[in-house]
Amino acid sequence: MLSVISLDLTTSNTLGLAATASHLVRYQFPEQLVDLLALVSQYQNVLVLGGGSNVILPAVLDGLVIKVESRGIRLLEETETHFIVEAQAGEIWHDFVDHCISCGWWGLENLALIPGTVGAAPVQNIGAYGIELDQRFHSLVACNLSTGQTVEMSAQQCEFSYRTSYFKQQPPGQWLILSVRFSLPRQWSPVLAYPDLQRHPVLVTAGNTINARQVFDAVCDIRRSKLPDPAVLGNAGSFFKNPVVSAQTYQGLLADWPALVAYPQAGGMYKLAAGWLIDQAGWKGKRMGPVGVHDRQALVLVNHGGATANDIHQLAHAIQDDVQQRFGVKLEQEPVNS
Ligand code: EPU
Repeated sequence: MLSVISLDLTTSNTLGLAATASHLVRYQFPEQLVDLLALVSQYQNVLVLGGGSNVILPAVLDGLVIKVESRGIRLLEETETHFIVEAQAGEIWHDFVDHCISCGWWGLENLALIPGTVGAAPVQNIGAYGIELDQRFHSLVACNLSTGQTVEMSAQQCEFSYRTSYFKQQPPGQWLILSVRFSLPRQWSPVLAYPDLQRHPVLVTAGNTINARQVFDAVCDIRRSKLPDPAVLGNAGSFFKNPVVSAQTYQGLLADWPALVAYPQAGGMYKLAAGWLIDQAGWKGKRMGPVGVHDRQALVLVNHGGATANDIHQLAHAIQDDVQQRFGVKLEQEPVNS
């Protein structure tokens, strides 16, 4: 039985924006799917909400909000080379990674402490410290809320690329991701190419004896040192994507800004560190009313208290305009406007 309630979502979005859902339903078990589909058909607007860590919510959400709270983790299959692990969409991402490491299913440790749920992770193809979700992805099960069909989708069908997927291109209420399966190599080797990891004292000391738990701890340590804890200071992680530009644009910028931070990409393109551009433009630590730019990572916008979606948008536009004017580079917003 599903009940529709009205719920204050202020503590259910990591930016901490004051928001209320007029009609909210909690999805907790696969058995609820039939009733859920019947309910969805009565609404024009549907929003699927996971951990609320990548959304900008308006003050009132009139449509139906589906809060995904399904739980469960299991080893689906052991092949000669991989553990195939399945998690229900409502599992908390960080706890899931922690659990996998405790079970000896290694390979997700670089993605520790990313806020949000398992079901939201493929939508924006989460990534950090040298690993992106698609590198460990096996498949997922999702329900098309318009047709009522439940399908299994491969990595190819999910169309993953940098911080995006097939799902991010679809209307917000179109798909409900039910569970996600990961393919974790039995033969583990640490991914330590990221400069912050190479410098980390625990990893330097561990040398060749390093294990996944140590990488997990180091990643948590690095994230805590520069990214604000949403429970203390509202934020949605990186607010902009790192822009990918042509070699020509990169060379032109480098001539003017020799300290420019960029990473070569496939096809001769370059990914620019948006945090560096915003920092250079003087925004780090700046405030605009109740919102501001984090003082240790310029890519993160923060809510100092009492902010609305509009405050966030105003600051984001001011930064986008300034960066465009100074560097001729367009910054694309990462979190979704709901
Ligand atoms: N930088 C500055 N000033 C700043 C911030 C960054 O100069 O204020 C420079 C840094 O010195 C560094 C470069 O920019 O040379 C890159 O910074 P960092 O290593 O912190 O990574 P990032 O590119 O800002 C990306 C992801 C993060 C992820 C980290 C680590 C995106 C949009 N962001 O940030 O993901 O944790 O790399 O892999 O790709 C997220 O998506 O929410 C997120 C936090």
